[in-house]
Amino acid sequence: MATEHKRSSKSEIEDLIKARYSLIWITSPEETRVEESLRKLCVEREMRLEVWSITEGFKTVANGQGTRDVKDPMKAIDHVIRAEGRALFVLRDFHPFLKEPAVVRRLRDAAHELRKTKKSLLVLSPITKIPPELEKSISAVLDWDLPNRMEIEQAARKVMPNLPAATQQVIESDPTFMERVVESALGLTLVEAENVFAKSAVRTHTFDLETILEEKKQIIRKSGLLEYYEHREEFSDVGGMEILKDWLVKRRAAFGSRAKDFGLPLPKGILLIGVPGTGKSLTAKAVGALWQMPLLRLDVGKIFAGLVGSSEENVRSVIKTAEAIAPAILWIDELEKGFSGTQSSGSTDGGTTSRVFGTFITWLQEKTSPVFVIATANNVSALPPELLRKGRFDEIFFCDLPDREDRRQFIDIHLRKKKRDPGQFDLDKLVDATIDYSGAELEQAVIAALYDAFDTGGDLTTEGLQKTMNEIVPLAITMREMIDNMREWARTRARMASSRSKGNTKPAGWMARYGAPTANLGDKGPEPDDDGRKLEL
Ligand SMILES: Nc1ncnc2c1ncn2[C@@H]1O[C@H](COP(=O)(O)OP(=O)(O)OP(=O)(O)O)[C@@H](O)[C@H]1O
Ligand SMILES: [Mg+2]
Repeated sequence: MATEHKRSSKSEIEDLIKARYSLIWITSPEETRVEESLRKLCVEREMRLEVWSITEGFKTVANGQGTRDVKDPMKAIDHVIRAEGRALFVLRDFHPFLKEPAVVRRLRDAAHELRKTKKSLLVLSPITKIPPELEKSISAVLDWDLPNRMEIEQAARKVMPNLPAATQQVIESDPTFMERVVESALGLTLVEAENVFAKSAVRTHTFDLETILEEKKQIIRKSGLLEYYEHREEFSDVGGMEILKDWLVKRRAAFGSRAKDFGLPLPKGILLIGVPGTGKSLTAKAVGALWQMPLLRLDVGKIFAGLVGSSEENVRSVIKTAEAIAPAILWIDELEKGFSGTQSSGSTDGGTTSRVFGTFITWLQEKTSPVFVIATANNVSALPPELLRKGRFDEIFFCDLPDREDRRQFIDIHLRKKKRDPGQFDLDKLVDATIDYSGAELEQAVIAALYDAFDTGGDLTTEGLQKTMNEIVPLAITMREMIDNMREWARTRARMASSRSKGNTKPAGWMARYGAPTANLGDKGPEPDDDGRKLEL
């Protein structure tokens, strides 16, 4: 799976230079790594590379030697404008000086002047903070990639000599070992990877995958936006939804080279919408286990919260990390919380939401890296229509309330999870008692009955379960209108996650107390057609 699907930042910058882009902004926290790539590029292209910092002025680091004592930012730009020949100039940490109107003005002049020359000026900064006056003059903004497999392997090999000789031999004798080590550190910067390898070497005297992965989880969590999610849920924990599950099972091997050679396109992602508590989040988590891929959970709210970096920066950083870890699953839970109201955002937040959303949509549409997106939402009306257009997601699945057969599976799953034998229970009765209950409510009923049984000193029984089930009023009743609207929406726009639909015979417990709903919610609808779509609800 070592195929690199994306163009490297080094070749991207090479194209920009060939195309005579005069002023380029590079965002990366990895100054040394970026400069090393630029140095190689300049050596290959026989260009001079001069690097500036406020403490040292300019220093020539490729195709030449020497320093230029121009620590003052204005003088530094002047030097670039006047310098001779084919050259690249890097300004380190220049963003604080862009608060000065004169510096901004001079940089704009430089951008204009340099267009007629074979010189390019690169602003290298850990953040993208471009003053509006400068935006038009910066011909490209490039977010430098995180290290690829090869670079991570080099970092590991640097640490190797510190391991006991016997361990080194073991590592060398197993060709897949290094691959797994590298995989476990993808998504980190080079320095972070080196530190993680060193820590593992000190603690375990080898490259211990658990240690490395644990460190990576911590580092990713610290970024505040993503969570590296552990596989706790098994795919078999998900009841019902056979169409969705079948779709996912069929794509299990879609990220390997065999699928690519066969001509299969890379799956992009799916959007799961539907009734609360029907297993959307559960499915997302379970896919990680099914596909044996790392799962990154994105907190959409935090992108906009302003606690960590700017919103635009955040979304790019998330994409960068996911692409570095790829093949990976990016799980965006409760999508509507972040991207609702993008149409009107121009008036409320200066258009930030729209811009962030635009970045995300473009990436979703154009991405060539094996990052599979699973987005979940239950308020479809809040989602911008652009998101739902063809080409963004492979499929939109609608997760409805479970029917009889689904509920039987759910109850079975939850009894087994609590180490009870479903064969000891009258499942028909329980299925009858739970018309229009969601998966979450079924789970809740099982847990409540367990508490009752524990309290009275007995064990879980069908009667105990019936009792707690009768006590729950399903959300389907209080949210009937919302669910009806959602179904109406999904009828023409989404694919049903579950195919079965069978009638109920007996009223659920709450019905005795609250009366039957005018339209039965979960257990109705015609048989699906071959495609699994219910044409009418
Ligand atoms: N299809 C299912 N099979 C088994 N258990 C389920 C299923 N759906 C829901 N559950 C149970 O309900 C819990 C909550 O479900 P989950 O969080 O996946 O719902 P959701 O669809 O994401 O809801 P929301 O829209 O509120 O986010 C799960 O952890 C699981 O225990
Ligand atoms: Mg959820």
